[in-house]
Amino acid sequence: MHWDSLIERRGSDSLKWQRYQDESVLPMWVADMDFAIPDPVVDAIAKRAAHPVYGYGVISNETKGVICDWLARRWQVSVAQSHLVSVPAVVPGFNYLAQGFSKVGYFTPSYPPIAQVAANLKIESVAIALEAHEEAGKRVFPMPLAQLETAAQQGMDGFILCNPHNPGGTIWTEEELKQLVALSRRYGFEIISDEIHGDLIMPGNQHRSLLNYIGPDDKAAVLVSSGKSFNLAGLPQAFAIVPNSEQRLALKQRLSGFAPAHNVLAITAMEAAYRHGEPWLDSLREYLWNNWLEIDGKLGAMPQLTLMTPQATYLAWIDCRALGWADPVKVFESYGVGLSCGADFGSRGFVRLNFACPKSRLQIALSRMQKAITEYQG
Ligand SMILES: Cc1ncc(COP(=O)(O)O)c(C=O)c1O
Repeated sequence: MHWDSLIERRGSDSLKWQRYQDESVLPMWVADMDFAIPDPVVDAIAKRAAHPVYGYGVISNETKGVICDWLARRWQVSVAQSHLVSVPAVVPGFNYLAQGFSKVGYFTPSYPPIAQVAANLKIESVAIALEAHEEAGKRVFPMPLAQLETAAQQGMDGFILCNPHNPGGTIWTEEELKQLVALSRRYGFEIISDEIHGDLIMPGNQHRSLLNYIGPDDKAAVLVSSGKSFNLAGLPQAFAIVPNSEQRLALKQRLSGFAPAHNVLAITAMEAAYRHGEPWLDSLREYLWNNWLEIDGKLGAMPQLTLMTPQATYLAWIDCRALGWADPVKVFESYGVGLSCGADFGSRGFVRLNFACPKSRLQIALSRMQKAITEYQG
């Protein structure tokens, strides 16, 4: 695995890399990794691409079996093939699933497209604030169950959970997930659990899928994808796992006529990643953990910054409010580091740093950030 290789992505129509015309700015924003995907996945895509006919595809039972095997092995969940519904990607997936809600809840800070669902569907929303808690050297978000209950009492009929949480990197506890499901049963709201980060778990942690706590009587769905785990966002494909038959049928009806035909290369890539990508993924997780230690050592030592502990994802969520800067992203950009802006997640004064890149590049970015903090007067 060549994690230290610096791959030139400028000129490859990369969203992440085309943002800064000024080439001295290192892009550390959108959740997209700067690593080469596993060789067997590249080979599988190339093999399928070499077949010169690209007609409509099907998702075979064999492919579905590979997905279920992955979830059984990696997440310890047992999924029936018949519960899988193909969706174009995770974001469209939760937008389709949320049709029919009249008031959607979500936690904030929030991955922006989750907060966007209400506007897309022209429905009401309720943003429930997360408050970080520090214990035994770990800073995570506890689930605000009392506020969830209040929202349910005030008409919330659907809730989108980001599990694990982006941008905080928190893995919800078993008790929290059980309580969430109990509340959904008591008040009758539906749950959509976006588990796209569920494979990117820091060593020593374990993903907790909502699938462990729901059954066919629950109105709850889980979204899975290899898009984040294997950096396949440019070949979009995801699955909704919907144990409830009524809800599954409703989703299929909504997709019909709106979702495009399956992308045969995307399906090929997902299947190859799940079949052959395990050693690559585990090595990646170790590398990401070491990158996090680098961040913790450099930025964690600066009293002006407060960092969440990422139990999952490759995203560092950094509270910069003590710096007193009106726009931290602008300042760091002027020092050559391009970060995601906390305000876009509902948290002004925060930044999100994507550390899925070779360590040498991360070290340059961290030095620049340290320089900005010691030099910039505002
Ligand atoms: C929580 C979360 N959900 C969904 C996505 C995007 O998924 P997709 O590209 O499959 O729509 C991202 C991408 O960063 C994400 O962080």
